Amino acid sequence: MSCDPKPEILVFSSPEELAGAVAKEFQKAAVAARGSGKIFSVALSGGTTPKILFDRLASPEFAETIPWEAAHLFWGDERCVPPGHLESNYGMTRQTLLEKIAIPEGNIHRIHGEAEPEQEVQRYAEEIRETLGTDGVPRFDWILLGLGTDGHTASLFPGGTLQEDRYGICGTALHPLTGQQRITLTLKTINEAARISFLITGSSKAQMASRILQRPIHDHKEYPAGRMNPGRGRVEWYLDRAAAALIDTN
Ligand code: 6PG
Repeated sequence: MSCDPKPEILVFSSPEELAGAVAKEFQKAAVAARGSGKIFSVALSGGTTPKILFDRLASPEFAETIPWEAAHLFWGDERCVPPGHLESNYGMTRQTLLEKIAIPEGNIHRIHGEAEPEQEVQRYAEEIRETLGTDGVPRFDWILLGLGTDGHTASLFPGGTLQEDRYGICGTALHPLTGQQRITLTLKTINEAARISFLITGSSKAQMASRILQRPIHDHKEYPAGRMNPGRGRVEWYLDRAAAALIDTN
């Protein structure tokens, strides 16, 4: 089954150019939210790719012009490690971005990787519901995602299963190779977002990106990244030239 609506594919000459484009979109959305008196809710991706974006957002061009008080930052997933651990997605974000911008601490909604996972899933789900003010499936304004070479995204792994919170907003998962415990937003929550953007760089991702995006349609069900299909939102694939090398974008 194909992604539907068709994902928007945006190819950039370098990771830096890709980061600049996403940072500009972030700035536009935050300014618009402040203008309408709404919060701008964003779930950040983990791993290494987002560092190029966070470095750019921390540069004076954006750090000093984005109304950070309007932005509420969440994470799409987290490793079950303490915030100071080398593998903490929050820890990486604090180092590369949060320490360099004037964002109110109350606008930072980290996943407590140091907590007992089953309890943290319930707590994080409640924090999302309270902040986004919803009784149903919470609708993030924007969810940023990465792509694993096996087709995973966030901590939704091929063939993986989640122990979800009572609302089905997030869940615990196990990394299939390392066995590391993770906490992740569910497919249902991600697909409720108004905007989903994959940030993908490097030749190592080219094969999986083309497998998910190219015709003829492969069965996407086996790849969680191929199941982003928001009923009321848009899906964008931001790729640098190396990651897009096997995609026919004409
Ligand atoms: C994580 C991420 C994960 C990541 C992909 C790509 O916590 O690791 O959420 O889904 O986005 O594995 O990781 P890289 O950006 O490091 O290639």
